[in-house]
Amino acid sequence: MPLFDVYPLYNVTPVSGKDIHVYDDKGTEYLDLYGGHAVISIGHAHPNYVKAITKQVETLGFYSNAIQNPLQKQLADKIETLSGCNDYELFLCNSGAEANENALKLASFKTGKKRVVAFKNGFHGRTSAAVAATDNGTIIAPINAQQAVTILPLNDIEGVKTELEKGDVCAVIVEFIQGVGGLDQGTKAFFEAVDNLCKANNTLFIADEIQCGYGRSGKFFAFQYYNVTPDIISLAKGMGNGFPIGGILIHPSIESKYGMLGTTFGGNHLACAAGLAVLNTIEEENLIANTNEISEYLISKAKTIPQIKNIKGRGLMIGLEFDFEVGELRKQLIYNHHIFTGGATNKKLLRILPPLTVKKEHIDQFFDALKKTLEEV
Ligand SMILES: Cc1ncc(COP(=O)(O)O)c(C=O)c1O
Repeated sequence: MPLFDVYPLYNVTPVSGKDIHVYDDKGTEYLDLYGGHAVISIGHAHPNYVKAITKQVETLGFYSNAIQNPLQKQLADKIETLSGCNDYELFLCNSGAEANENALKLASFKTGKKRVVAFKNGFHGRTSAAVAATDNGTIIAPINAQQAVTILPLNDIEGVKTELEKGDVCAVIVEFIQGVGGLDQGTKAFFEAVDNLCKANNTLFIADEIQCGYGRSGKFFAFQYYNVTPDIISLAKGMGNGFPIGGILIHPSIESKYGMLGTTFGGNHLACAAGLAVLNTIEEENLIANTNEISEYLISKAKTIPQIKNIKGRGLMIGLEFDFEVGELRKQLIYNHHIFTGGATNKKLLRILPPLTVKKEHIDQFFDALKKTLEEV
């Protein structure tokens, strides 16, 4: 049976991984500066992670959400400790889109309203309301388009004010560092004004931290660079280091009710074991400090490359903008130098999203390869 052909594929077949590297079926080593799309947080096949998942699957891999599962509470407590988000409650699901879908649904339940404000170049997933809030008409089917969404330019404080004052907006959803769109960030004044406008207009502020969260920005959450209090924070990607897990942190001003949200797989034992191993490793190996140190190093090296016209993002979520489209450059980095990097909607941007365990020597290897490739293209 053929696979439904929705992904353009590179001709590489990784079969194993170790920390910052993956290995293909011929034994070739690749430097992974893409982290499987910002998913690999603590490195491929981290021994603590492998041990925790193995032990859990040998014991109890899954039971439904109809029973006590203390691992969920342990995970919630650990997120609280590491993030410093003390007042929130946790709901677990399986992916980023599902996290945002639940966030938007909760906002609508809580406010009784149904329009969403989102931003240009934002990406929030491919399901119902999440895709409608995504600024990409080509992935919005007619069935999704029925959702009421208004897309505004980032930093358009007046636009947000005008829309929220109409009284029908349940949520403003934003990535504090845009991922797929190309690493743009709103200003401090913008984020803080949106936070205040939401509070003044009975609209919930949703921080989509699916890509920029979990330490990747250099703080546990990217919104923590600002003086804001999101009502809901959505998580996925780095949360499971490849194990499918997502979640939302919910401010206690939103009251829970039986049946309000639900899932078969979300929060299962195996997912929680993976999630706990990720957080324990981030803590034990000081990976957020490493993120900041390597980020600084990466940015300082990027500044020495004349062809790099702009450096975007924070932490280990960095965009290197050239004055040409980078598709061919990415291909050459993969095929000639065995280095994975990412692209973005902005075709001139190379996205660097390595595991948070990356070291200076890997950054050196990347820049050596980049310089050679730039001489050739
Ligand atoms: C910011 C952001 N939100 C949501 C999603 C959707 O996550 P998933 O692909 O797990 O559904 C993504 C995925 O790239 C993302 O980057």
